[in-house]
Amino acid sequence: MRKGTLITFEGIEGAGKSSQLELLAKQLRSAGRNVSAIREPGGTELGEGIRPLLKEKGTPVCEKAELLLFLASRAQLVHERILPALAEGTIVLCDRYSDSTLAYQWGARGLPIQLVKELDRFAAAACVPDRTILLDLPPEEGFRRIRAARGGLSDRFEEEPLAFFQKVRAAYLQIARENPQRIAIVDGFRSPETVQLAVNAAVKELVTLS
Ligand code: TYD
Repeated sequence: MRKGTLITFEGIEGAGKSSQLELLAKQLRSAGRNVSAIREPGGTELGEGIRPLLKEKGTPVCEKAELLLFLASRAQLVHERILPALAEGTIVLCDRYSDSTLAYQWGARGLPIQLVKELDRFAAAACVPDRTILLDLPPEEGFRRIRAARGGLSDRFEEEPLAFFQKVRAAYLQIARENPQRIAIVDGFRSPETVQLAVNAAVKELVTLS
């Protein structure tokens, strides 16, 4: 039985997911709620072991292996952290989840949508978020922010051309249109304070912030 709430944050690189997740976690904790903040890929010993294989440029990873590694990380995360936390009534905030797999591995890499959906459902034990915040941003602005924040360094995904992230963004928007009850599109091209207000509005029916 799910007593807790699962809220996921999605968007392209530089959209502000991690900062907004932290801001929401802080507000919920000050309101006395139990919060578990986690990130994908990672969040477990196995997932943190997989993460560098997916992020760093050293090891060649083909598209099928990439999908299965993301899903292996998710399967362990759901089993080890998300389901137990939800069972005890915790609010789980997750930085990326199933919609990332659809947007990147289907939308941008071009793997078959039904296959990606079915494998993800299997890996995630059919655990669907109660609410998903899609921080929408043009990829050009995302990259400008990343460069401003940490100079020239980039990971395996950030090396992809702009067209890759345009496909990711378009896929996210399509997924959001198909799931209007679950996914709130928040315009990320605004100040962090304004975005935070929009995020709060998108979760207020699910969690008490004060
Ligand atoms: P990360 O540093 O966590 O991204 P960000 O800081 O932008 O949130 O790196 C995760 C990368 O992996 C990111 O480029 C998106 C990609 N990804 C997928 O392609 N599929 C997935 O299922 C997940 C969870 C992430």
